[in-house]
Amino acid sequence: MKCRKCGATAAINMRHHRLALCASHYLEWIPEQTQRTIEHYRMFSLSDQVLVAVSGGKDSLGLWDVLDRLGYQTAGVYIGLGIDGGVRYSDQSLARCRAFAGARRLKLHTVDVPTELGASIPEAARLTHRGQQKPCSVCGLTKRHVMNRVALEAGVDVLATGHNLDDEVAVLFGNTLSWSTGYLARQAPVLEARPGFVRKVKPFCRLMERETAAYAVLRGIDYIYDECPFAEGATNLTHKDLLNRLEADRPGAKLSFYLSFLRARQTGALLLPGAAEAESDLHACVTCGQPTTAPGECTYCRTRRRIHEKREQRSR
Ligand code: AMP
Ligand code: FES
Ligand code: ZN
Ligand code: ZN
Repeated sequence: MKCRKCGATAAINMRHHRLALCASHYLEWIPEQTQRTIEHYRMFSLSDQVLVAVSGGKDSLGLWDVLDRLGYQTAGVYIGLGIDGGVRYSDQSLARCRAFAGARRLKLHTVDVPTELGASIPEAARLTHRGQQKPCSVCGLTKRHVMNRVALEAGVDVLATGHNLDDEVAVLFGNTLSWSTGYLARQAPVLEARPGFVRKVKPFCRLMERETAAYAVLRGIDYIYDECPFAEGATNLTHKDLLNRLEADRPGAKLSFYLSFLRARQTGALLLPGAAEAESDLHACVTCGQPTTAPGECTYCRTRRRIHEKREQRSR
């Protein structure tokens, strides 16, 4: 297989684009594609301050690298979740993010959840759910809360995450199977700012996981290979597996499923409940001030309170 641009040995073949590229042309192609996505969805411009949420993995560190190379003004935010899983998962991830930011002289905000919440994510799940529930739901709500707060405090224009096409398609597929219209209405490459909520964007939403992985490897980015030890519910993995089989059989199926969904919604062919309806239920959390639909306190503050109460009960 030869590079389409220079004829050298190809480092990657992308069947859905009918495109094979050598390492150096691939390292140019990814920023070009990302730039096109940023412009297509009007995500941000060179004058905007972009906060990149980095987990230490290939997608988010790859994204930060690309945005920096494209000349955007960026800083990072890393949220330490206190996850060990036998591989010192959180410590290792933080080390990768620090090394990355340090080498490029970029600012990295860090937040330590065990300090803020009063418990690590696995402890928080145990303390608040009684049984042995997976920590992913408390983890998700904590990450959303903290990212939004750091973005607002830092006064940035936009928050960028490393979600790739495989992530987006697996979520879309799951929400379609259950016709979760509320979630479908909100799944988008850009979520506009609302009072109390920072604008959110996903510049890698059209890139496959193998493409972001190839970019990180060829760029020599030192990222954490381990998945979170509690990684994704079994259903999400089953969906990814199904979609990979579909893609192998019909290259381009994932991208087309995702883009057709976005188009159908944009043109009004797919009518979903408007964001305005959900908005009417929002009010400021009495403790932290972030918008919430929960009565009184937001879920994060309520979780935090319950953890402190449990700790007090135990120490008595
Ligand atoms: P995940 O929820 O693990 O699929 O991650 C989706 C995106 O959320 C990543 O690409 C990152 O941009 C962001 N993210 C995940 N974990 C963290 C973390 N611990 N700190 C900051 N951002 C994160
Ligand atoms: Fe949150 Fe795994 S439970 S990253
Ligand atoms: Zn080439
Ligand atoms: Zn709150």
